[in-house]
Amino acid sequence: MSVTELFLLLPTAIVVLIIAWNFIRKKRRTLNLPPGNMGWPLIGETIGYLKPYSATSTGKFMEQHIARFGKIYKSNLFGEPTIVSADEGLNRFILQNEGRLFECSYPRSIGGILGKWSMLVLVGDMHRDMRMISLNFMSNPRLRTHLLPEVERHTLLVLRSWKENSTFSAQDEAKKFTFNLMAKHIMSMDPGKPETEQLKREYITFMKGVVSAPLNFPGTAYRKALQSRTTILKVIERKMEERIRKMNDDECQRMEDDLLGWVLKNSNLSTEQILDLILSLLFAGHETSSVAIALAIYFLQGCPKAVQQLREEHDKISRAKEQAGEFGLNWDDYRRMEFTQCVINETLRLGNVVRFVHRKALKDVRYKGYDIPSGWKVLPVFAAVHLDPSIYDQPHHFNPWRWQTTHDRGSAPTSSSSSIMTSNNNFMPFGGGPRLCAGSELAKLQMAVFIHHLVLNFHWELAEPDNALAFPFVDFPKGLPIKVHHHKLGQEQQHSSNS
Ligand code: HEM
Repeated sequence: MSVTELFLLLPTAIVVLIIAWNFIRKKRRTLNLPPGNMGWPLIGETIGYLKPYSATSTGKFMEQHIARFGKIYKSNLFGEPTIVSADEGLNRFILQNEGRLFECSYPRSIGGILGKWSMLVLVGDMHRDMRMISLNFMSNPRLRTHLLPEVERHTLLVLRSWKENSTFSAQDEAKKFTFNLMAKHIMSMDPGKPETEQLKREYITFMKGVVSAPLNFPGTAYRKALQSRTTILKVIERKMEERIRKMNDDECQRMEDDLLGWVLKNSNLSTEQILDLILSLLFAGHETSSVAIALAIYFLQGCPKAVQQLREEHDKISRAKEQAGEFGLNWDDYRRMEFTQCVINETLRLGNVVRFVHRKALKDVRYKGYDIPSGWKVLPVFAAVHLDPSIYDQPHHFNPWRWQTTHDRGSAPTSSSSSIMTSNNNFMPFGGGPRLCAGSELAKLQMAVFIHHLVLNFHWELAEPDNALAFPFVDFPKGLPIKVHHHKLGQEQQHSSNS
C-alpha cells in the first residue's frame, strides 16, 4: 500500500473508530449496571474488601455496601470491574450457568501457585475430565467401604495423643488429622514417616503463600510458597516414579489403592497434569475440612446444650455397637448421626469456610433488571446469604436446632415462623452447579466421625480467648488453644474398643 493510499484511508479509519467508540459509550450508558463504587484507580476497593473481620459476620465492608447499594452492587476488586452478589437467587443463577453465561475465574496468582492444571483454574473439557477422576475417587461406595474406616483410624490417631489436662492448638490437631488422611488416601503416605512430615512442613509454607498477596519478590510469602511448590512437586514426582517402577515390577502386582495408583492406571494424564491434580487435591481436601472441624470445636465449646445432645446421640450409637459386639463405625451408624448433621450444617452456615467464589461473565447477562457486562468479574458471596437475617432467624447465633424444624435438614426457618422454607436452595457451603465441591460428602463424614469420638471421649474449653477471623480465608489467630479432660464414659468405651 502506497503512502497516498494510506493517507486516503486514514479519514475512513478515524470515522470507523469514532463510530465504534460512540457505540461502546452508548452501550455503557444504556446498560443498567447495579449501583456501587469503583474505588481508587487500579486497586479499586480491594483493600477494604480483604480487611479481616469476624468469620461469623459479613464484615463491615459488605454490611455497609449492602446497606447502601443493596444485595447486588458493582465494585472494582482484584484489579477488575466486579459485580458482588449477596443475593441468594443470583448466586444460584451464576453457579448453575457455569460454562454458559459464567465461568470460573480465579486470580492469576492462584494458577501460578496451584498450577495451570489445578481443578480450581481449569475450565471446559479438561475440568470435566479432572472432576470425573476426583468424583470417582470419592464415590459413595468408596466412602462407605474404604474411606469411613480410614477416617475413623486417623481420628483416633489424633485423639489418642491428647493427654488429660493438656493444652494445645485445636486447629493444628485438626490440620494434622485432615492432612494425614489426604496424604494416605492420595499417595499412601503414612503419618509420622519422615517424607510425610517433610511434606506437611512444606505445605504450611505453601499455604501461607496461597493466601498472601501475590508479590513475587525475594522474602515474600508468595515467593516462598512458589519455592515450596517446587519441593512438594518433587516429593510427589518421586512417589510417582516409585509407583511406576512397582507397576512394572512382576513381583508387585497388588497396587496401593490410592488416587496416585488409580490415575496412573486409568487415565492418560501427563506427569505435569498428575502433579497439579494431586497438589490441588491435597490443598482442597485438607485446608477446608480442618477449618470446619476447628470451627465445630469452637462453636460447640460455647454451646453445652448441643454437646449434651451430641453425647446422647453418639452414646446410643456406641452402646448399640457394644451390644452387637461390633467395632468400628459403619455406614448405618453414620446415618444415625442426625443431630450431628444439624451441627455440621450450622457450623458451615455460621463459619463459612469458603465465603465466596470467583467467576466472570461470558456474555452480557441481565438479572433482576441489572446488567452484568460480558468480561466482568462476578463474586457470589455465600457467607452474606448464610448470615442474612431475612433468611435465617438470628443468623449470628449458633443454633443447630434450626435445621431440625422441617423434614428437610438443609432448610431453615425465616424470621417469621409462618414462612418456613421447604428447600435448602440458599445453603451453599460447598458451592453448586457443575463445580459443586467434589469432596463435600467426605468433608461431612470427616466432621461427623471426628465429632463422634470427640464428644464421647473429651470435655474441652478454650485455654485463652480466640476468635475465627475471615482474611477472607478463615483462621484462628491463636490456633484455637483448648484444654481437654477425659470424659469418663468415653474412657470406658475407648477401653472396650481398644481391647
Ligand atoms: C468443609 C470442607 C469443605 C468446604 C467448605 C469446601 C468448599 C468448596 C467449594 C465452595 C468449592 C467450589 C469452588 C468453586 O466453585 O470455585 C469446592 C470445590 C472443590 N472441593 Fe471442596 N470443600 C470442602 C472439602 C473438600 C474436601 C475434603 C475435598 C477432597 C479432596 C474437596 C475437594 C474439592 C474439589 C476437587 C473441588 C473442585 C471441584 C470442581 O471444580 O469441579 N473439598 N469446595
